[in-house]
Amino acid sequence: MTVRVRPLADDELPAAWELGRLAFGGRREPPPEMLRPVPGILRLGAFDDRGRLVGKATDTGHEQWWGGRRLATADVGGVAVAPEARGTGVARAVLTDLLARARERGAAVSALFPTVSAPYRSLGWEVAGELVGIDLDAAALTRGRAPGTSVRPGRPGDLPAVTDLYERIAWSRSGLLTRRGGAFDLPSDGPWPNGADGATLVEQDGVLTGALVYRRGSGYGSDARLTADDLLATTPEAAHALVGVLGSWATVTPTVRLPLLRGDAVSALLPLERARPVSRDVWMHRPVDVVRAVADRGWPTAARGRVAFRLADDVAPWNAGDWELVVEDGGAELRVAGREPDLWLTVRGFAVLYCGASSGCAAVQAGLAGGADPARLDLLAAGPRAELLDYF
Ligand SMILES: CC(C)(COP(=O)(O)OP(=O)(O)OC[C@H]1O[C@@H](n2cnc3c(N)ncnc32)[C@H](O)[C@@H]1OP(=O)(O)O)[C@@H](O)C(=O)NCCC(=O)NCCS
Repeated sequence: MTVRVRPLADDELPAAWELGRLAFGGRREPPPEMLRPVPGILRLGAFDDRGRLVGKATDTGHEQWWGGRRLATADVGGVAVAPEARGTGVARAVLTDLLARARERGAAVSALFPTVSAPYRSLGWEVAGELVGIDLDAAALTRGRAPGTSVRPGRPGDLPAVTDLYERIAWSRSGLLTRRGGAFDLPSDGPWPNGADGATLVEQDGVLTGALVYRRGSGYGSDARLTADDLLATTPEAAHALVGVLGSWATVTPTVRLPLLRGDAVSALLPLERARPVSRDVWMHRPVDVVRAVADRGWPTAARGRVAFRLADDVAPWNAGDWELVVEDGGAELRVAGREPDLWLTVRGFAVLYCGASSGCAAVQAGLAGGADPARLDLLAAGPRAELLDYF
């Protein structure tokens, strides 16, 4: 089958919604933003020789934080192929096209949450992390007020300040979304986003240092649960205050469900040995344009060095070639290598190293890299391990 891929016209959005609804079992009534263009979001459709819509994918237009710099990102969502057309190369066609367009608009990297990893592996994405939610017994949390903090209920009008607070946590890490632009700029359908019921805010000397945005859930029996959509703290005192408030729910919601961000102020206080993982969404990563992916992010100032490698990428051929990575002074560059490198990497190997999710030696054992002294490739893995806090 010949497949033609192009941006969906406005009057094709209902059919695209229906294709996604059939694949993912969504509700019959589409949310209004699915039926109109949203600035920053690109919806692509794949059409067969008779002009029928047989597949779709969305470039969400996100940005990710990488070492203090915003990286233009082509995160992918809503990949669906009509049942009758599956296994005939439709996803390959639409995602290859999406990558080419993403590069054209300046994107550097791409992430996605797969329902099945194999097709994305075949197209150069590799598993690099997971988004984990945990349940904890509220009664196990440390109670009590933290000195120097003032705790108050938040209002919907505080949400921009909560986004700023999130930014103070996210900017120096790797991979976290900026939560600005595209779908993040859409008005929420209620007073709070995603059906949240309220927020608890912590201030110190008039500065917002902690935020819990929560969904109350129903009832107050043994199975009642409070779910934190956001649990953010930039100081140990703010984390202490928020954990204390979470603990105060124990009498009516014996369980609290929390997002987990490795090594943050809140995790440092939680009894993680008692955590019960309840959700685990694996995500995959891929460079869209390796030159940009290296040059446009921040690198740890402690990292310094150079390593040359041959990179293979059949799906995004502009990435393929002999490169030398040079890291110094908090920045890096990918130059065309002067002579033939004695190390090689697949694009999936590049992805896991770039995300700090593997090492040169491990990548060789996984068949994603090869050559002499592969530990030299660890330079590409310098920096904090990449993570995501938002599902898309
Ligand atoms: C998953 C899905 C998008 C794949 O689309 P598709 O058009 O059938 O995939 P393609 O024919 O382009 O296949 C691309 C590659 O993935 C492989 N592949 C496709 N579906 C696969 C599956 N379910 N399991 C393992 N490999 C698979 C193909 O063999 C092919 O490999 P190759 O190119 O190395 O030979 C499609 O089956 C679908 O819409 N499923 C329901 C919705 C869904 O799960 N969407 C994904 C959300 S993340």
